[in-house]
Amino acid sequence: MKISVIGAGYVGLIQAVGLASFGFEVTGIDIDDSKVKMLNNGVCPLYEGGLEELLKKHIGEKLQFTTSYKKIKDSQVIFLCVGTPQDEEGNTDLKYIFSAADKLKKHIGDSKCLVVKSTVPIGTTRLLKERLNGCNIEIVSNPEFLREGMALNDFLNPDRIILGFDKNDLTSKEILEGIYQKFIEKNIPLIITNYETSELIKYASNAFLATKISFINELSKLADKTNADIKTVSHAMGLDDRIGKKFLNAGIGYGGSCFPKDIKSLIKQCESNDINPRIITATDDVNERQIKWFFEKIKKHYGDISGKTFAVLGLAFKPDTDDLRESAGIKLIDLLLKSGATIKGFDYVQKARDNAYNMYNLDKSKAFYGYNLYIFDNLVETVTGVDGIIITVEDNRLNNENWTKIFNLTHEKIIFDGRNIFDSEKMHNIGYVYMGIGSKK
Ligand code: UGA
Repeated sequence: MKISVIGAGYVGLIQAVGLASFGFEVTGIDIDDSKVKMLNNGVCPLYEGGLEELLKKHIGEKLQFTTSYKKIKDSQVIFLCVGTPQDEEGNTDLKYIFSAADKLKKHIGDSKCLVVKSTVPIGTTRLLKERLNGCNIEIVSNPEFLREGMALNDFLNPDRIILGFDKNDLTSKEILEGIYQKFIEKNIPLIITNYETSELIKYASNAFLATKISFINELSKLADKTNADIKTVSHAMGLDDRIGKKFLNAGIGYGGSCFPKDIKSLIKQCESNDINPRIITATDDVNERQIKWFFEKIKKHYGDISGKTFAVLGLAFKPDTDDLRESAGIKLIDLLLKSGATIKGFDYVQKARDNAYNMYNLDKSKAFYGYNLYIFDNLVETVTGVDGIIITVEDNRLNNENWTKIFNLTHEKIIFDGRNIFDSEKMHNIGYVYMGIGSKK
């Protein structure tokens, strides 16, 4: 079967490469010519574990990329995976969705199926159907649930597959079941529903996970002021199957290209339906405040932080990604810089460091910027001579570092653990002042 995938961002690339690895003939389409050239040379424009290897394996064989929509006429199924960014008011901007639809309209040949994988507000798939009215194409909603850094694994091992159809039209069901046959054989639940339910499942899932995080983050402040230990609270709560232990780790807040944007979009969607979304508004609000609260905690320790130097370990919004969007680490760096501190930043992912250079417009040879920001390629250099170490991502590699050796390299011996990844006792035993989130230990 021939398949087209429109959009070569995180979602589209995983979809294109993943489907090629299943043996389908896949054409990826993107408007960015330089990205298309890179991909055709087997170079992945973004960092995602295992993706470049799989791309190299299939490119030129089952997989190709192009900027031209003409290829669409040969494919039976088209996956729509373009970005749905946030506009200034927090609404979802659908310009890429509609411009892709207008372009593909000109090239639809025989009977086709257009599958919307992009995260779109409730009602968008139906709007798309109206826009493509007159074309011989069925539109299906099929949201994705990939986590950055784990995206290939999530593609290969989904928890569920959601297919939203227009109630009068299920003709593509068999085709899609054929594409997802491998998952159906593994008894992965397939939910067949209507457009609107499918669209809301995506937002509801992200909003629920974000709410779990904000819930524990809110309580972490109470724990911080009392003698309670939030890590033990999370652990004990998580042992109750009804609650579950995942996404219950207190920290400096959620970031990335999905949770912050999707929560804001869901608030707007409620408001435009005359609903006051109290819980998700609180989720968003708690998240916005969490990083500021952590910053104040650091400031309080020193009194004045201007002239202090900090090692910030973690630039991307989470481990194993190069994505800096809404990164709590970057937000903290900005707050610290504005208060006159000097920052030495590090991330294990080289592309995350490269993206930080580009974002701050740094000169790589000097790694210096007007505000006193330096980015280093190794941890030892990053921590040498600093007045404090700040952990901003839950990267387990940090646990394997030699913290006794690092102790001797820093000026002041203090760790602010914004993700509660360390054993506080271990750090105390080495001699550090250790400040986690929601714990006096
Ligand atoms: C999220 C969802 O987890 C995916 O299921 C969804 O498909 C994706 O959004 C999307 O909509 O495309 P992702 O943004 O890659 O995936 O990141 P997560 O792993 O969910 O982490 C989000 C943030 O929450 C990170 O900043 C992480 O540090 C933070 N987090 C996570 C916590 O603060 N505490 C936790 O216990 C877990």
